[in-house]
Amino acid sequence: MYSRTRTVVIVQVVVVYQSLWGNTAAVARAIAEGIGPDARVVSTAEATGDVLTGTRFIVAGAPVLGFRMPSDRTVESIRLNPCSASRPPDLSHPSMRTWLDGLSAKSGYSAAFETRIWWSPGGAAGAILRGLDRAGYRPLAKGQRFIVKGKCGPLREGELERAVQWGTALAEAVKRSMAVPTR
Ligand SMILES: Cc1cc2nc3c(=O)[nH]c(=O)nc-3n(C[C@H](O)[C@H](O)[C@H](O)COP(=O)(O)O)c2cc1C
Repeated sequence: MYSRTRTVVIVQVVVVYQSLWGNTAAVARAIAEGIGPDARVVSTAEATGDVLTGTRFIVAGAPVLGFRMPSDRTVESIRLNPCSASRPPDLSHPSMRTWLDGLSAKSGYSAAFETRIWWSPGGAAGAILRGLDRAGYRPLAKGQRFIVKGKCGPLREGELERAVQWGTALAEAVKRSMAVPTR
């Protein structure tokens, strides 16, 4: 006879992304690489329940779509009008807005990023940071932008290297914030 136990995975750092054509997912993986082996990378579809248990630092990112953070309505409009010059969009991730709305209140730190074309007005990272802050994850850094060359990508040369460096800087910042002052 055996008893069934629920396994709770304790992860300290989670990088969460919504990505339709893969650019934001690639940046998320590069940021996690810069943060180090403790960072786990998950889509908004996977970043639920136990995945966030024990997480003290969330880095979240999404593409800028229609000048802002994607909502379910934006995703639906892309379902009707997919980007013609690329592979079909992955529409399986909940929008970043929906994911943030469902995030339960905790205490920790946060950072946010967006992928975008360079000249566009608007953005997503500011709204993501505000959503994380509302859930109790205090922003550690200003929102970061990563640039794509065409409407649906690919990323501009050098952006993944910049993402790794930003991840490393975030890891340092979170270590400083969590350090207990000694007398
Ligand atoms: C329908 C549509 C609307 C977009 N709107 C914007 C926008 O307002 N501002 C911007 O900077 N980029 C915009 N983009 C570019 C996306 O932000 C960019 O392709 C992003 O990297 C896609 O990320 P993903 O591959 O992770 O889905 C738009 C792209 C599409 C297809």
